[in-house]
Amino acid sequence: MGSNGTVTELQRNSTKWTKVAEEIVKMEKKIFPKHESLARSFDEELKKKNSGLLYIQIHGQVVGYVMYAWPTSLSASITKLAVKENYRGQAHGEALLEAAIKKCRTRTVLRITLHVDPLRTPAVTLYKKFGFQVDALIQGYYSDDRPAYRMYMDFDSKKIIL
Ligand SMILES: CC(C)(COP(=O)(O)OP(=O)(O)OC[C@H]1O[C@@H](n2cnc3c(N)ncnc32)[C@H](O)[C@@H]1OP(=O)(O)O)[C@@H](O)C(=O)NCCC(=O)NCCS
Repeated sequence: MGSNGTVTELQRNSTKWTKVAEEIVKMEKKIFPKHESLARSFDEELKKKNSGLLYIQIHGQVVGYVMYAWPTSLSASITKLAVKENYRGQAHGEALLEAAIKKCRTRTVLRITLHVDPLRTPAVTLYKKFGFQVDALIQGYYSDDRPAYRMYMDFDSKKIIL
């Protein structure tokens, strides 16, 4: 089933900022354990230069979001991806990831990286479906007993997608 929501970029000076940010912080708290959640640092994360957030809203409610950043001109990262539990399996995750990759590729990045808990099977499967590969298992990444896969996808040229 295709995603029936429109992917929108959250603009810093948008009047929607407060409402959308509040909803996302609520989702962060619900979906992610404390040490993995950006709930407390959400505003700071988003105000960082070179970062962005895309979200899908259905009937006025945020049902999913993805955060990305491009710390250098050559590499980007997907820093968060989540879909509300009762909206999963409807291709929203795929639509968000695809849009975030496109955003990253409007710059000259040659690699996109991300970290994910290996136990998050839906996410790992989704990333692999898009061509991400695992290049390391990083022990203690999220907490002492929770490692992360580091995954990456390379682009073979500096082609800019507009
Ligand atoms: C990962 C997540 C964003 C996927 O969102 P979603 O909207 O349900 O995903 P989609 O419906 O777009 O599915 C796309 C692909 O993801 C994979 N996938 C999704 N759910 C899956 C599941 N339960 N088991 C295995 N693979 C799954 C499949 O490859 C699927 O493609 P297919 O339909 O052709 O098989 C969602 O499960 C989620 O929010 N999980 C909790 C948060 C999380 O783990 N985030 C990632 C770490 S930051």
